[in-house]
Amino acid sequence: MRLHDKHGRAITDLRVSITDRCNYKCVYCRTGNEGALYSELPFSDYLRLVRIFVQLGIEKVRLTGGEPLLRNGLVDFVRDLAKLRTLDNQPLDLAVTTNGHLLSELVQPLKEAGLRRATVSMDAVDAEKFARITRVPNGYESVLAGIRAAKRAGLEPVKVNCVLLRGFNEDQIVEFARFSREESVVVRFIEFMPLEEDRVWSPHVVVTMDEILEKLNQFRPVRQLPNTPSETARRYTFDDGKGEIGIIAPVSHPFCGHCSRVRLTSDGKVRTCLFSLLDHDLAGRMYRGASDAELSDYVCSVVDQKEARHHIGEPGFVKPSRSMVHIGG
Ligand code: 5AD
Repeated sequence: MRLHDKHGRAITDLRVSITDRCNYKCVYCRTGNEGALYSELPFSDYLRLVRIFVQLGIEKVRLTGGEPLLRNGLVDFVRDLAKLRTLDNQPLDLAVTTNGHLLSELVQPLKEAGLRRATVSMDAVDAEKFARITRVPNGYESVLAGIRAAKRAGLEPVKVNCVLLRGFNEDQIVEFARFSREESVVVRFIEFMPLEEDRVWSPHVVVTMDEILEKLNQFRPVRQLPNTPSETARRYTFDDGKGEIGIIAPVSHPFCGHCSRVRLTSDGKVRTCLFSLLDHDLAGRMYRGASDAELSDYVCSVVDQKEARHHIGEPGFVKPSRSMVHIGG
């Protein structure tokens, strides 16, 4: 039995948030006043839940937060996850999304434990601008060191995610293009979604895919690369084949129709969409003594209800019941 929703989408990708704590306070994500709001489960409990998902066809597991590298015991958890096998008897595609601040010291042990890939969030390639966005002094050097260490550890391709906000860091588009070419990393621009704690989002603040492409083309002619079907990013390189840019455009070009993802929050709730208005208490059932078979049935019934699409920008849009830092990216 492999997970499908009622819209016929195969669900193969699980994102697991292991904490909603974060050591950054990025202006487009957090108010700066709130800390963690939700509990964390022991790793043994995440492991049991992930195993249930994997027995239902999950092939890709991404660890996220908050900031996942803040959690002690992460390396051992990755080692345990790396022992799981998919229904096709393959190891999981194990990845982490991190702000990169603690990556340089942890990346080698994580790689040895079985981590396959790392995505680092970085919204400016300028130390001062970076500090203004993250509201943490001197982070830029640490993150840059983290990206380079991930490359050295062989977690390739290292992807760097950048969320663009109009009037704030859109001047970084060309700088990131240079960065991709110089550091040989994949830079991915993500359109800003209404998932922040505060109320920063408006359609006007979103720097759209078309605008990004225009700016890139002014720097150097871009050429599109082939996509894999369930990939969220449209991929580009430049006329000389040097550098790779991805554009993730959930606002201007939604890709809900081939979404393959579900999420598990740090407190063990299943979310079937970033924009879900409710979450499903899987851990609660586990703690009340449900068997693996019962948990598995519950997961199937929850996934079946996965939303057809999000409604960003539409008149009746209602913000989801949690913001990004408390869901997991
Ligand atoms: N819109 C788009 N991307 C976001 N991220 C965080 N908040 C938002 C948002 N509101 C990004 C992070 C990270 C990834 C998990 O999602 O910067 O790279």
